[in-house]
Amino acid sequence: MCVLFGHIKVVRTERGDIRPRASQGDQAGISFAARATIDIRIYSVVGSKLYIFILNMRTPPSLPVQAGPKSPAPKVSPDALNDEVKPVEDMTREELLAYIREHHEAGIRVTFAGKDIAKRIARKVRPRTSRALAKYSAGTPEEQARNQVIEGENLQAMVTLYRERGQVDLILTDPPYNTGRDFRYNDKWDNDPNDPNLGDYVAEDDDGRHTKWMKFMLPRLRVMKDLLKPNGILAICIDHRELFRLGQMCDEVFGEENRISIINWQRAYTPRNDSKHVSVSTEYVLVYAKDMTRAATGLLPRDDKDDNTPMEDNDPRPWVDSPATGSNAKNHKSMVYAIQSPFTGELLYPPDGSAWRCEQKQNLAWLKGWGAKYKAADIDDAETRARIIGVPVQEAPKVKALVLDESVESAQKKARKLHKSGPWPMLFFLSDGNGRPRLKKYKEFIKQGKVATNYWSEDDYSTPEVLGSAAWPHEESGHSQQADKELTAIVGSGHDFATVKPLKLMAKIIQLWCPPSGLVVDPFAGSGTTGHAVLWLNEESKATRRFILIEQGRPEKGDPYARSLVADRLKRVISGDWKSGKNEPLGDGFRFSQLQQKVDANALLAMERDEMVDTVIASHYDVNRRGGPGLNLIKYEGYDYLVACNSSKEGFFLVWSGADKSPVFDEATYEAVVKEAVKAGLKPIYHVYARFNLFQSEDVRFYQIPDQILLDFGLNVNEPYNNESESK
Ligand SMILES: C[S@@+](CC[C@H](N)C(=O)[O-])C[C@H]1O[C@@H](n2cnc3c(N)ncnc32)[C@H](O)[C@@H]1O
Repeated sequence: MCVLFGHIKVVRTERGDIRPRASQGDQAGISFAARATIDIRIYSVVGSKLYIFILNMRTPPSLPVQAGPKSPAPKVSPDALNDEVKPVEDMTREELLAYIREHHEAGIRVTFAGKDIAKRIARKVRPRTSRALAKYSAGTPEEQARNQVIEGENLQAMVTLYRERGQVDLILTDPPYNTGRDFRYNDKWDNDPNDPNLGDYVAEDDDGRHTKWMKFMLPRLRVMKDLLKPNGILAICIDHRELFRLGQMCDEVFGEENRISIINWQRAYTPRNDSKHVSVSTEYVLVYAKDMTRAATGLLPRDDKDDNTPMEDNDPRPWVDSPATGSNAKNHKSMVYAIQSPFTGELLYPPDGSAWRCEQKQNLAWLKGWGAKYKAADIDDAETRARIIGVPVQEAPKVKALVLDESVESAQKKARKLHKSGPWPMLFFLSDGNGRPRLKKYKEFIKQGKVATNYWSEDDYSTPEVLGSAAWPHEESGHSQQADKELTAIVGSGHDFATVKPLKLMAKIIQLWCPPSGLVVDPFAGSGTTGHAVLWLNEESKATRRFILIEQGRPEKGDPYARSLVADRLKRVISGDWKSGKNEPLGDGFRFSQLQQKVDANALLAMERDEMVDTVIASHYDVNRRGGPGLNLIKYEGYDYLVACNSSKEGFFLVWSGADKSPVFDEATYEAVVKEAVKAGLKPIYHVYARFNLFQSEDVRFYQIPDQILLDFGLNVNEPYNNESESK
């Protein structure tokens, strides 16, 4: 029996075997048991119903027939959804669909040991609570609610960002390149991705280095995709070491049809003459859409050099000059004729093979705009026009010329006068009037930007002019070195961080793929270049983009980059207090938080009040504001309950005194809540978090602890593991 589902074929023998076809690699052909008759089942999903059509037919003689002993009914692992190995027939519709998606087409699939585990691992990662660390945060409560820096492991952090799932416009990231010094792997993650051990650095000569890197990256790519909006974009940096493997994984996770570009950017190392073969001077950015049909790529701002120089004719509307002729005269024969210049009296034709761009009537009106009298007249020039069009003279249509209806001298006088005073008519003449006709093109009608190409040269990353200061060294240097100098200027020397990306590279990607009020996430934040680029662009273009950066650093060496680099860098660019001197402050702020223990009911119930405040702020979301800024923390000793407010000035009240002390929300508490709201200038709705609720009111929205918090982390309150008592 052969089961068809779209392009997928799952083979089943009459004896009951089920053999998925091409489950590994690019395996062509279908295996059949040696039987003459087969069933064909066609599975079709219409709406929520699964239809199965069964056809009986004989084994086609051309198909390869594999004889063999009766094998036990093999099981198929629908590993996209289920940890267990299941027969196809026992799968739910979702499992079957996932299985089919996984195995459809005979395309090339990347295979590596442990891939199935890597695909499932993200579902085993538990969200974590977090502690806000005021010392490393910056800005007002509103500014802190806009941006986040999370210190911790990024798979755990991304799983914790439940409220951002499906809300992110751009994930711009730069994972470890697998250089032998930059990436750690813990084998225990195969079974428990929550294992706190970060593992050892994977050495350059480790035979399993590529497999480990892929096992590390695959779950992260899958979670990144989940975080993206339907029109969201992933832009991921890589170099030659893992380019192919990353590309194949991205093709698989996002779909080849969603690959927008492979950008090749010039790191601008001056060629290394000691290279044995080829000196490496470029790296890559792979850009994928979650769904190409919904994705948009922005335009890059035009530099002046991309524009034609505007003419000075006192026209209040800025314009550039553009051709008055276009090609393909053969298709526009009636638009080939003479125009007499009001400046010189010369008869001007389009160049050979070309025609005037605009209608003759339009050109006549513009010519008259020079003040001279004009008329359309037959000047017996069929031969000239036929030559320009490229046809025999008899094929040139009868077309009149636009000629002066007064003397050249008087026309010239009028035209010269207007040329001096301006503004000129749309059709004007180059070289002070003595040249050929051109058209004015108003800038408001020009596409404000240029299309990006996939080669980004060194010039694109030179020191941003806006940041130019004595702090920026002027000598010619490679770009990676330049980026390193950018960082040194901000945080000072001795940061010992070698993999920083140029600010302009990240800014260019953000400009292209994140709308001006969008959200950018960088799960491998390093020194925080992505956050800096968001702040810089916001300041430059009055955009309001937000960022979430995740960085783990080397905590085992007491070197958490999130604090020593990301927070330090961002604080300095926000305030303008660079290590190298005062700079233009970029403003804005961010909340710095550190991932803590796994979220479960017992852990939540054991929290002290300040931990609960952080947890509520980190987890709360309103379906209508999902993806927007978080809650603004209200820190004021005078409040017993009020802890935060949202951007609509509604208060959040926490009725919680700490572990084992669970006050109920009752009428007396309600009155106290209303008093605090009035004092803080907040209006109803009052959002109340408490263990138990004994009071109902229309202006109260009640959130039960721990159930609502578990739900806000995407956890099912009824699942037993949400009641585990777990430590960090
Ligand atoms: C190549 S660097 C990023 C550099 C960054 N683009 C910049 O311009 O500074 C990669 C970063 O990812 C961090 N990292 C690696 N594995 C991580 C993980 N599992 N969770 C969080 N951060 C991680 C490393 O500490 C390192 O700082």
